[in-house]
Amino acid sequence: MADYSKIQVTPYASALGAVIGGVDLASVDDDTYLEVRRALMEHQVIFFEDQHMTPEQHLAFGRRFGSLNIHDFVGGMEEHPEIVEVRKEPEDERNFGGAWHVDVIYLEEPPLGSILYAKEIPGIGGDTLFANQVAAYDALSKGMKDMLDGMTAIATPALIYGTQSTDWSKTSSMNSSPTATAEGEVEHPVVRVHPETGRKSLFLSGKFTPRFKDMTMEESAPLMDYLFAHQTKPQFCCRFKWAENAVAFWDNRCVMHYALNDYPGQRRLMHRVAVNGDRPH
Ligand SMILES: [Fe+2]
Repeated sequence: MADYSKIQVTPYASALGAVIGGVDLASVDDDTYLEVRRALMEHQVIFFEDQHMTPEQHLAFGRRFGSLNIHDFVGGMEEHPEIVEVRKEPEDERNFGGAWHVDVIYLEEPPLGSILYAKEIPGIGGDTLFANQVAAYDALSKGMKDMLDGMTAIATPALIYGTQSTDWSKTSSMNSSPTATAEGEVEHPVVRVHPETGRKSLFLSGKFTPRFKDMTMEESAPLMDYLFAHQTKPQFCCRFKWAENAVAFWDNRCVMHYALNDYPGQRRLMHRVAVNGDRPH
């Protein structure tokens, strides 16, 4: 285990996750930043409690890790396009991120990570699940690993944000709508090597990665379905119960997540900043 002198790191679950203490995210010095980065690599998702950041401070913390992503299909805050307001109003039926996924995997360079800040949370419900994709890969047989190591997946926004999406009939306050421009395909390795830790992980995301390269969706489905079920087995997961002003920062290169939609009639408002990543290999 790495030692930390500026921050306290308390593991949150056996599979992944740690709670980080001793940090004010509104002003992070260089040494603290380096330790937070190390904790993120070690635990894959890190949680901070009782943080008080302005939008500018949230953006500044994100920029420590790289340039920031502007979402292609979901509008950001008017003055801060890099902040997506993840909003569900009491009358909304649909939530944002309500299925297992990797953020924005359909980009050639998907985000390094996302930093989600709880502004208003429901009295009960609205937890987020995280799944460790290094552990999911490690648990496969040698034969399956060898086969997947040479495979390529096709990623596309079409089935989520495109006009083929079936989800849009439900009410939502999110600043987005189905668009014909949500199309195009990029290729990603099914198993990626983490650029900082060197660890291999599964890199697939349900409807965002509907098939393997040079195969149809129908041909891909049996193995995709198997892997999708495998990726999110309980032993690879943790479940974070939010408090107001909590922050979760996950490494989007090796973690899947799922925002539960189990709080009808209540409001939930989060601010999300996503840090740009590099091309998976
Ligand atoms: Fe997400």
